[in-house]
Amino acid sequence: MSLPPRETLTGKTLIAGVFGWPVTHSRSPRLHGYWLRQYGIDGAYIPFSTPPVQFEAALRALPALGFRGANVTLPHKEKALASVDQATERARRIGAVNTVMVQEDGSLLGDNTDGFGFLEHLQASARNWQAGDGPAVVLGAGGASRAIVVALLDAGVPEIRLLNRTRHRAEELAEALNTPTDRRITVHDWENRSETLAAAALLVNTTQLGLAGQPPLEIDLARLPVSAVVDDIVYVPMETPLLAAARQRGNGVIDGLGMLLHQARPGFAAWFKVEPDVTPALRDFVLADIPGAK
Ligand code: ATR
Repeated sequence: MSLPPRETLTGKTLIAGVFGWPVTHSRSPRLHGYWLRQYGIDGAYIPFSTPPVQFEAALRALPALGFRGANVTLPHKEKALASVDQATERARRIGAVNTVMVQEDGSLLGDNTDGFGFLEHLQASARNWQAGDGPAVVLGAGGASRAIVVALLDAGVPEIRLLNRTRHRAEELAEALNTPTDRRITVHDWENRSETLAAAALLVNTTQLGLAGQPPLEIDLARLPVSAVVDDIVYVPMETPLLAAARQRGNGVIDGLGMLLHQARPGFAAWFKVEPDVTPALRDFVLADIPGAK
């Protein structure tokens, strides 16, 4: 990897980090560290292993420590929303914060860039896909699903067919995001997932099915138009059985790593004052540290 060597910290070093518990699996230090070196920035990005009972105190200490901000990962994302001084509208709708900015006055602004990362990667990789093309089928109703559903609604997708093994979680998610005048989220039975693919323009897997060590997602793609795009947020392995099957029948396929890379962009830009690029070299650098991803 031809990156300039890491230089010493200085008194002017801009500092950010990531809170997680555990934090050892976080890809963010490597990702932000790459960009800091690529752009020759006098900055540092530090992993914080923060137990839940100490999370709020740790987050609130950012201004006193002179930090520019931080990412927040599992299990702290919902607590972060409750702990910041202000939150963006998308963070409130998603119900979680993954990016915190220390503002000029020392207050904390919380944002959620997961849906942004998903959509940016989708738009960059599937250049023919447009939000207005047709319904999206979203499998799963956890935190990742919620961020993706908000992003798809905001992008203008005409209908979101939401399915989850535990149906009531999908219903709760739809109830939280549908409004009296905008009821584009419809809930369907998990057992009917193959049927819901008819006339869809996008299929997104947000469940853990297909992840290394988990069973594959069982779904019959026969009804899915060949023009539809299939997006799997799982990235270990990069080509899940779902993506392999979709590719074989001619659908465009989107892997899960790009969402991770793109969600990091707004935080980096806010903390370090450079708009970073997602490049093949960055992908390779992050991938090299993910066992089983290739
Ligand atoms: P995240 O916040 O990462 O989205 P999560 O909240 O744990 O994670 O959600 C995991 C998703 O994978 C859920 O939609 C879950 O379905 P349930 O709500 O029914 O648990 C889904 N999932 C996990 N294992 C599954 C399986 N074996 N079959 C179907 N769905 C599964």
